[in-house]
Amino acid sequence: RLVYILNGPNLNLLGKRQPEIYGRETLEDVERACSEIGSANGVQARLLQSNHEGQIVDWIHQAREEAQGIIINPAALSHTSIAVLDALNTFEGPVIEVHISQIHKREAFRHHSYVSHRADAVMAGFGVNGYALAMQHMVRLVKE
Ligand code: DQA
Repeated sequence: RLVYILNGPNLNLLGKRQPEIYGRETLEDVERACSEIGSANGVQARLLQSNHEGQIVDWIHQAREEAQGIIINPAALSHTSIAVLDALNTFEGPVIEVHISQIHKREAFRHHSYVSHRADAVMAGFGVNGYALAMQHMVRLVKE
């Protein structure tokens, strides 16, 4: 079983970018934590990051072919992208949305997420641990 962990714009800089908000851990740390949880449960985790909306859409289409679940931090695309929402609506498995920061206590423009219209569960404010918590839940969902 395979789970995609998709990451949107600027998350390649995780660990360096605004560490007071997003912390000092990197996407590599996230990948390691999620892979450990996955492999202990017979689930493979594939972490991908792009700064380009179309690439995220293409990966969601690819997930239709080979993945049983999607964990996604759409980053700024959460607040702007109907294309990412529409792509997720073509995916039949479970979708968990992750935000490292607690978007509801930040600027008003971060309070609405298009992706939340599709997500089966949403994490916000758990720091990078939100990915691991989402992965723990995801392994249960994809094994059902
Ligand atoms: C984010 C929150 C978004 O508002 C922001 O644009 C990001 C990261 C988070 O993980 O907290 O890039 O998705």
